[in-house]
Amino acid sequence: MNDLARANKYQEENRIDRREKPIFHVTPPVGWLNDPNGFSIFQGKIHLFYQYHPYRNDWGPMHWGHCVSEDFVKWEELPPALAPDMDYDAAGCFSGSAIETEDGHVLVYTGVMEKEGEDCNKEVIQQQCLAVGDGLRYEKVKGNPVLPAGQLPEGFSTADFRDPKVWRENETYYLVAGNMDGQKNGQVVLFASEDLMSWRYLSVLADNQGKYGKMWECPDFFSLGQEHVLIVSPQDMQADGVEFHNGNQAIALIGEYDRQSFRLWEEQVISLDYGTDFYAPQTLETKDGRRMMIAWMQSWDMDIKPAEQKWNGMMTIPRQLELRDHVLYQCPARELEAYRTEPVACTDREISGECQIPGIRGRVLDLTIELQEGDYQEFLLSFAANEKYHTSFRYVPATQTIEFDRTYSGMVRDVVCQRSMKIKRAKKTLKLRLLLDKFSVELFVNDGAQTFTSTFYTPLDAQDIVFACDRTVTVNIEKYGISFDENAIG
Ligand code: FRU
Repeated sequence: MNDLARANKYQEENRIDRREKPIFHVTPPVGWLNDPNGFSIFQGKIHLFYQYHPYRNDWGPMHWGHCVSEDFVKWEELPPALAPDMDYDAAGCFSGSAIETEDGHVLVYTGVMEKEGEDCNKEVIQQQCLAVGDGLRYEKVKGNPVLPAGQLPEGFSTADFRDPKVWRENETYYLVAGNMDGQKNGQVVLFASEDLMSWRYLSVLADNQGKYGKMWECPDFFSLGQEHVLIVSPQDMQADGVEFHNGNQAIALIGEYDRQSFRLWEEQVISLDYGTDFYAPQTLETKDGRRMMIAWMQSWDMDIKPAEQKWNGMMTIPRQLELRDHVLYQCPARELEAYRTEPVACTDREISGECQIPGIRGRVLDLTIELQEGDYQEFLLSFAANEKYHTSFRYVPATQTIEFDRTYSGMVRDVVCQRSMKIKRAKKTLKLRLLLDKFSVELFVNDGAQTFTSTFYTPLDAQDIVFACDRTVTVNIEKYGISFDENAIG
């Protein structure tokens, strides 16, 4: 049996009961998941692949897992698409992307090789490879690696050359990949091709200017409104004021793309998320022109899942990106609304002290709260709560901050539990939309002008939602449960 068949057999025989998992967030059938890969539309369906190690619930030889959806919400698990079974990818099929072509669904990924180098040190080589398939089965092409590391300009790192994202403009395919220059500065390199098989180097599209981390992983580049957006996930980022607290942090460079020099001139650089668990996002464009982004909802440095849990890693909800007045908004896929159940709404409700609201509890919720201005000093929203546990967001109007706290989420690891976020462009009312799905919260502040994404693995019997205010705050609340039929895999 070959490696891919073996991985599929293992997945089939060890598939974890979906009742142990989140409902509408992608998780691995078994084992470990990291970056989203190959997020694309093929023959009208939404495909998502991911970095996958089925055999254990921690990182190992990278396969590509695979699932498919009609609507970004309900996902069907498919057999793994790639296993590290060739000389050129024996050390892993690392991240990459996918594109629909006349010849089928083409996956473009990084094949990693390790050789014994000088002084017995391991020499790593990363090169870009293709596999072609029909939406279910994929075959690696004969010409791999189609973009060998030797095609990089002199001095660029051949050990850190990964995570290709491809797209097509007219008759030309373009590819961006993460890389480092001779001084170990992160950069994104741009290549072009007419057939996806042979590539020519064009430029360094953007670089870290010595300030945005080191190696730049998982680039994605697209136009949005009147501007261009380059998403990258730098490693080794240093905190700067209230920004970049995650070490590995997903950021966006927004600006103008000069097609003569193939260079992006960024006008702003922003954090894509302020929570503890958000990395390596990737986007696709839908037929109706929406730019959707999905990310790995976990941190490289904080593995906090309970020891007995047999799966590790989740994706965020796919989010629609929009640029309005130079602000990048993220909004949960609108398709989620079709799965809303059990609505509860309150208008102009006054909250003084601590309270719970009938009908507002549970671990799978779509909850929106609009807070009016007032003379209160803090508003606290606790969830996944009972007498023993709670996780919370505290809003402090005087400083325009939102403080997250998962200290009492049942955590038994010594990791970051508290994180603050400064609200930019504050308005009179503050709108908070929370998506809860058992073990995660995604907070969309002021229609997604900023987001905060974090995981917590509180026992599922902690179901309460508690509102509290030191004085009185007037709020509008809209709450829905999210559910779909029992056979779906989430
Ligand atoms: C980002 C990353 C990628 C790499 C993959 C390996 O999280 O480090 O750069 O391709 O994970 O699993």
